[in-house]
Amino acid sequence: MALTVAVTGPTGEIGGPLIDALEASEAVGAVRGMARRPFDPAAAGWRKATYQRGDILDRGHLAALFEGADVAVHLAFAIFGDREETRRINLDGSRNVFEAAVEAGVGRLVYASSVAAYGFHPDNPQPLTEETAAIGSSSFYYSAQKAELEEALDEILAGSELEAYVFRPCVVAGPRAPMLIEQTVAAARLGDPAPRLRRQVLERIPLLRPVLPDAGVPLQLVHHDDVAAALAAAVEGRGEPGAYNLAAGGEITIADIARALGWRSVRVPRPALGVGTAVAGRLAFVSPQLEWATALTTPVIMDTAKARRELGWEPRFDAAETLLQTAVSARERGLLD
Ligand SMILES: NC(=O)c1ccc[n+]([C@@H]2O[C@H](COP(=O)([O-])OP(=O)(O)OC[C@H]3O[C@@H](n4cnc5c(N)ncnc54)[C@H](OP(=O)(O)O)[C@@H]3O)[C@@H](O)[C@H]2O)c1
Repeated sequence: MALTVAVTGPTGEIGGPLIDALEASEAVGAVRGMARRPFDPAAAGWRKATYQRGDILDRGHLAALFEGADVAVHLAFAIFGDREETRRINLDGSRNVFEAAVEAGVGRLVYASSVAAYGFHPDNPQPLTEETAAIGSSSFYYSAQKAELEEALDEILAGSELEAYVFRPCVVAGPRAPMLIEQTVAAARLGDPAPRLRRQVLERIPLLRPVLPDAGVPLQLVHHDDVAAALAAAVEGRGEPGAYNLAAGGEITIADIARALGWRSVRVPRPALGVGTAVAGRLAFVSPQLEWATALTTPVIMDTAKARRELGWEPRFDAAETLLQTAVSARERGLLD
């Protein structure tokens, strides 16, 4: 019988492409999506999928979303924001989602965790397989929350019938995922040592060709359509439940990002391993957003053999092509003006 799938966060960078993949899946009969802001599913071309407004902090909203669903997909998250707000949505909200899925008798849960769940540790094996413990980095709020949540998920599901697929994607990019470029532009502006007033003036003039510091740290990317394909395979129940790394083939560096944006980069020494996380811990006092520097200073490369083997996952785009598509789309959207 065709599956009924309930999705939290269907309007985000991963959610949109996932809904499209579920619309195209013959195994899926109906999709219900829920997020907070108004959204017109017809305008997005959804036919099987409906949309309801709701908050994962509200258990009543979740009960209504999951009622009669075969599969729950949890994507709602606050990736950037202050510590208090992100904790509430990410930890309290996600616990609500996991508990509500168990209570509703949903059979399968698909959750987008992150590479950050492993933490940015100098002694991480390279590449990382799913056998490595997801212990997070305490000095980086997003990483710590992702690790804490994976542990919470295990606790909440213990003794229940609900089987869980936990995906650990690297940075997601592509034409529908501008976050990478938006954050790079914001960081380029934040990095300007100008006093606040001058910076406010700078923000009103076109972004002059910034120079990005490149320590040569390899980064992985994955295209949103390839993430959607992996999540859709899990929704359909392919392979075994469990953790899955997701990354496209190939690696890029900050210099490649600069080149794709038409900017320049300057080679800087790679920080001693572990320094990135220590610095991030201190920066967190200034702004939680600066903790993201951790992810750019400590190499964390994942092995994706398990997703390919178990789910038959074959990413269509490598890291270089994904970056190119992201940059072209950012230019078309005026993000680089
Ligand atoms: N993007 C990446 O590079 C990346 C990489 C690895 C892992 N992930 C993980 O993948 C998941 C999805 O990421 P994404 O990039 O799609 O995020 P996103 O683009 O920021 O979208 C977040 C979605 O969650 C909804 N949402 C946020 N707070 C909510 C709340 N309290 N109640 C209900 N809905 C809420 C948002 O809509 P409203 O604001 O309208 O509610 C939106 O639909 C996250 O767990 C993220 O950590 C992302």
